Amino acid sequence: EAVTPQMLLASPLRAPSRSVLPMPLQLFGAARANSKGVDLAAERERLPLLASLAVPMPAAPNDTSVAGAAAAMDALHAAQRGWNATPLTERCAVLLRAADALERRTSEFAGLLAQEGGKTLGDAVAEIREAVDFCRYYAEQAAARLAPQTLPGPTGERNELRLHGRGVFVCISPWNFPLAIFAGQVVAALVAGNTVAAKPAEQTPRVAQRFVELLHDAGLPRAALALVCGPGETVGATLVAHRRRAGVCFTGSTQVAKAINRTLAQSAGPIVPLIAETGGLNAMLVDSSALPEQVVDAVVQSAFRSAGQRCSALRLLCLHESVADKVLEMVAGAMAELVCGDPAEAAQSWAVDVGPVIDAEAHAALSRNIARLEREARLIARTPLPERLAGTHIAPVAFELKSIGEMREELFGPVLHVVRWRGAVDALVDEVNALGYGLTLGVHTRIDDRAMRIAERARVGNVYVNRNMIGAVVGVQPFGGEGLSGTGPKAGGPHYLYRFCGEQTVTVNT
Ligand code: NAD
Ligand code: ALA
Repeated sequence: EAVTPQMLLASPLRAPSRSVLPMPLQLFGAARANSKGVDLAAERERLPLLASLAVPMPAAPNDTSVAGAAAAMDALHAAQRGWNATPLTERCAVLLRAADALERRTSEFAGLLAQEGGKTLGDAVAEIREAVDFCRYYAEQAAARLAPQTLPGPTGERNELRLHGRGVFVCISPWNFPLAIFAGQVVAALVAGNTVAAKPAEQTPRVAQRFVELLHDAGLPRAALALVCGPGETVGATLVAHRRRAGVCFTGSTQVAKAINRTLAQSAGPIVPLIAETGGLNAMLVDSSALPEQVVDAVVQSAFRSAGQRCSALRLLCLHESVADKVLEMVAGAMAELVCGDPAEAAQSWAVDVGPVIDAEAHAALSRNIARLEREARLIARTPLPERLAGTHIAPVAFELKSIGEMREELFGPVLHVVRWRGAVDALVDEVNALGYGLTLGVHTRIDDRAMRIAERARVGNVYVNRNMIGAVVGVQPFGGEGLSGTGPKAGGPHYLYRFCGEQTVTVNT
């Protein structure tokens, strides 16, 4: 299916509507605006103290014992009726006050995210923006959607549909967005009228603790939210199996989501919903009409930003054989320009593109897989890594595979796999679908019909055409996948809050 001049002429995408970045590429640290539209130049002006920030890391909260986790669930159950009876307007107001406070405390949270989560400053500021957006968006959605509705009908009775919190929601979050995902889950569950047991990842309890304190300062009753820290296998599993849990909201690996699903199916107590947002083997499909500069910018951002530690990150780049050599040469050139930096530099400098991976365990697992790829695949390019960072960072690296069938599990770091394709694009989409994940998909083509056909055929939650494929914006690009990537509903979308609610129809014979 070669691209013909007629196809290009007929396509509304034949000329790019948004600016195609000139070479040299705008790399992330130096970019004017990041993918959430945060104007980093303005942030630099607004937060002059960031450069000299030396936020002392607060002490980490103590782990909760298994008995403590169970006791917290009982206490949250006792408090739920009262919190659910709090007027919806007041529950929304707590979220709005929290959003304002978080915005005011951007410097402090950015320092914490850099130190505890290894975030670059650009990523930290974008994550704070996302958390603020979640608070405001879910407050707005709750006000618009969760109030009781009178339903007209032919029965001659008064009918009302009422939504209420289900009970105690267990919210379990990962380390890679220790603020935005933690906050998004918790405030959604709370505003719907649930009390919440919030279990952050073992690696990032301090950010979670600060946000919980901020919510209480914003007027959330202490009894409505319990921070429960500790290992997932013991403390997390206790929360999930507890008879008082009325729902679980989980973001993390596919494997743990399945373990939680099994526990829920086998434990005593009611049948409860699981909202799971998990991993991805996300592909980007590039055809012969794509604009190489735009592709290269999208590839570098999608695969290597946040050191590739995003569920949405690009893992598999599928290049049409006619453009593969040119694009790969440019990708290698761009990778050579990326700046790797350590956490201290990340907290002080806007110019760092790639921070560390989260911990020694992740470093070891990625190193093992890269060693395997060095034996089994063709090395395309690797970003230079200063010797002093060798133990904490993984240099962005790209390998060419012979076929999509060689893809294994999600490697959660800056490792890009590349394949060349030819023939029918439908067959390529089917091969990507067959990987079983369904989170994000990038498409680069100037043929509008083809982009829409790919989107329709692809079994994924988020399709991005002619841009990068990370950084979904709350309320604008609702985010979440299907298949091995999760259950939905989409975070930051209009259907999210309903899953946290029970529904009751009251019929009165008048
Ligand atoms: P993980 O699954 O190892 O851990 C996630 C959370 O689950 C942690 O809080 C952990 O303590 C807890 N946990 C672990 N075992 C548990 C158990 N048996 N019972 C209850 N809780 C348990 O994931 P991670 O390493 O923290 O995060 C990385 C993964 O998250 C990647 O696969 C990534 O793709 C995924 N992720 C998905 C999204 C999304 O929105 N789809 C967003 C971010 C991250
Ligand atoms: N929501 C995050 C993104 O879109 C994970 O990159």
